[in-house]
Amino acid sequence: MRMAAVTPTIMILITLLAEIAIDGYHCKVVQFIFGDSLSDVGNNKYLSRSLAQANLPWYGIDFGNGLPNGRFCNGRTVADIIGDKTGLPRPPAFLDPSLSEDVILENGVNYASGGGGILNETGGYFIQRLSLSKQIELFQGTQVMIKNKLGKMEAEKFFQEARYVVALGSNDFINNYLTGVYSDSWSYNDQSFIDFLMETLGAQLKLLHSLGARQLMVFGLGPMGCIPLQRVLTTDGSCQERTNKLAIRFNEAASKLLDNVSTKLANASFRFGDAYDVVNDVITNPGKYGFKNSDSPCCSFGRIRPALTCLPASTLCKDRSKYVFWDEYHPSDSANELIANELIKKFGFMGVNQTDAPSPAPSSEED
Ligand SMILES: *[C@@H]1O[C@H](CO)[C@@H](O)[C@H](O)[C@H]1NC(C)=O
Ligand SMILES: *[C@@H]1O[C@H](CO)[C@@H](O)[C@H](O)[C@H]1NC(C)=O
Ligand SMILES: *[C@@H]1O[C@H](CO)[C@@H](O)[C@H](O)[C@H]1NC(C)=O
Ligand SMILES: *[C@@H]1O[C@H](CO)[C@@H](O)[C@H](O)[C@H]1NC(C)=O
Repeated sequence: MRMAAVTPTIMILITLLAEIAIDGYHCKVVQFIFGDSLSDVGNNKYLSRSLAQANLPWYGIDFGNGLPNGRFCNGRTVADIIGDKTGLPRPPAFLDPSLSEDVILENGVNYASGGGGILNETGGYFIQRLSLSKQIELFQGTQVMIKNKLGKMEAEKFFQEARYVVALGSNDFINNYLTGVYSDSWSYNDQSFIDFLMETLGAQLKLLHSLGARQLMVFGLGPMGCIPLQRVLTTDGSCQERTNKLAIRFNEAASKLLDNVSTKLANASFRFGDAYDVVNDVITNPGKYGFKNSDSPCCSFGRIRPALTCLPASTLCKDRSKYVFWDEYHPSDSANELIANELIKKFGFMGVNQTDAPSPAPSSEED
């Protein structure tokens, strides 16, 4: 940290002053991310028994040194890109052993876990994954750590100024309701299952608010009936229309839920956004957006499909930037960029005023 060169006595003084003059103390604005494999940046890497793993070549091939980093993508996640474009640091995985209070104060935390869902029971066959309620439980642990470090008042300020992302739901369908192997498949119908998801999500959002979250974005679902894994299950390789309709209904319900929750919770800006329409358009008209393929994974195991993950023995497409899908489930880095741009538009630009990390406009940064 910046204080590293200061002598201990002065540091104690500064700490005392900071505690007295609370208004003069400026914590950095950071993010706390709750999600599934679309936002995981390495938590599952540390869940040694989890079957939802991206710690294999060729994951990460277009990120940093090109080695697997826990992201279920060749490059960046949607949350990475949105964070970068809004001037927020990229939060490390909660289970990363190097996570410390200082790292959290500078970067926030990412609790997202491949296979996780809004419901506790979702993704059970992956053996290990963090559900949304588990992720929030871990966040409560993080709060205790930070309160011990900063004191109650400053910690509260830090958590109220932070940005929150909640991005789960597709596994509740793909790896729960639609599988037919969980009791949720036969205890609910489409409507009552979505109602149940909304009730659960609503309770979790209220809990996050009670823990200090004030600025929160919920990402909706894309046309999940068009992921390669779902297409390979239809006889003609087309999208599963029923699955897509469920995504649309989930998005409509979540949008209403967020409007409702946001008006009821004090000082809360809780917002919903999805990129369903634009992703659906890319899938139908890939050429319009500079893509060449929108129905099969860039990383695939020859004719043996679906291979559940991208494997070391898989072959990669020639130009990864031209494929909408990286593997059977997950969009490519290029598709994530498109999704992130759409979400930024939907949410309106939520820039951050930070003295030590000014956020340049994304266009000027890339030109
Ligand atoms: C979900 O799991 C959490 C523990 O992570 C538990 O506290 C909660 O009661 C569970 N919810 C339901 C509905 O079973
Ligand atoms: C808003 O939420 C409350 C519970 O918090 C519920 O009673 C009410 O029906 C909801 N309204 C809408 C329009 O969904
Ligand atoms: C909402 O904001 C006002 C003004 O900053 C503050 O007095 C109040 O305590 C806040 N309420 C909650 C629940 O955060
Ligand atoms: C950033 O600062 C400007 C002016 O100082 C203010 O108008 C704006 O609301 C602030 N934005 C946020 C996100 O705090």
